[in-house]
Amino acid sequence: MTIDRITADGYKNLTGADISPSEGLNVILGDNAQGKTNFIEAVWLMTGCRSFRGTRDRDFIGFDKDKAEIGVSFTDKLRTQQINFAVKRGVREREITLNGVKLPFLSKLFGNLKCVVFTPEDLAITKGAPDNRRTFIDLSASQLKLSFVYALNKYENILSQRNALIKDIQQGLAPRDQLDIWDVQLARTGAYISVVRDTYCNNLNDYTNSLYNQITDGKEHLEIFYNSTIYRDSGEVLCGRTDTDGELAEIYLDKLRASASDDIRAGFTTCGIHRDDIVTKIDGLSVRDFGSQGQQRSAALAMKIAQARIIRQQTGEAPVMLLDDVLSELDVKRQRFVLSNTEGMQVFITCCDERTASGGKIFKVENGMIHAI
Ligand SMILES: Nc1ncnc2c1ncn2[C@@H]1O[C@H](COP(=O)(O)OP(=O)(O)OP(=O)(O)O)[C@@H](O)[C@H]1O
Ligand SMILES: [Mg+2]
Repeated sequence: MTIDRITADGYKNLTGADISPSEGLNVILGDNAQGKTNFIEAVWLMTGCRSFRGTRDRDFIGFDKDKAEIGVSFTDKLRTQQINFAVKRGVREREITLNGVKLPFLSKLFGNLKCVVFTPEDLAITKGAPDNRRTFIDLSASQLKLSFVYALNKYENILSQRNALIKDIQQGLAPRDQLDIWDVQLARTGAYISVVRDTYCNNLNDYTNSLYNQITDGKEHLEIFYNSTIYRDSGEVLCGRTDTDGELAEIYLDKLRASASDDIRAGFTTCGIHRDDIVTKIDGLSVRDFGSQGQQRSAALAMKIAQARIIRQQTGEAPVMLLDDVLSELDVKRQRFVLSNTEGMQVFITCCDERTASGGKIFKVENGMIHAI
């Protein structure tokens, strides 16, 4: 999959951007605070995902502008498609079209333009909090399965209803047996999400294994697996299961029921997929607890490249790689690893120093304006 043309105007500080990138490497060069990340963010938003740096919709429009517009034309094996997005100050409704057809929300774009975004924060994924790793897996698996997005939203909804009820029970405002209504639904959805995540982690592990070997010349072994708070002691194999409404939902339900008293004491749901983690180990030792900074970074690189490989394997289309400021954070060996493993894909790399990335088409960003040089 390649992006043929990107236009952006009024999105944060971007002004009149209209570029035709190369099918391979594109280097976005510019000093600090010129608009490099804003540009990457504008492209990323066209995937239908939320901003990777948490920008809220109301902050899309440039401070001194009345309108933000983004347009992306991209081509996969089958056809060329066009996404247009516009938001006006003071107007809630956004104009979003895919091939001229109106869509109600940005998230409806999901599944069309496929990108993998990689930022310096991702380098800390193995060290950071479990919710960063859950988000990584959830986003990666969502890009491959729309039903998974619905399941995650459903789970969030049921969980917040259950937590509200727990608070009421705590204060004597509701009877405890009302929990069961939510538990049954939470168990079914949670069992499905656990299976999708575990299956994804298994797939990820297959790829990261050989990628990590490449970085360490086979001297170290990286292992990644899903650590489920519900199933880890059950002996159940989750990977590839399709019968999530049966025995797996039962086990989930039993666990919820068994932890109800703890939950009421704590004031929230203490077990479930919202408490799970993705464990990374190098030669049997937890990267989170014992990994050196270099090992953590290498594991993160392997995970990100693997994410792209899995998209290619499962959809037949290589995603567009958006590497924001990552190369400058890496030593030469790891830079080479990233560049050689993204060959054959369309890549956008932002950096401040032109020595960081050479070759490809070069664009310069100055004060929100971007042009080829
Ligand atoms: N809504 C907005 N309107 C106008 N400018 C904005 C808006 N939001 C952010 N900015 C500005 O955009 C500028 C460029 O930000 P961006 O993060 O893209 O820089 P960058 O080129 O990636 O810099 P760095 O190399 O430091 O990462 C910043 O100075 C920021 O204050
Ligand atoms: Mg930046």
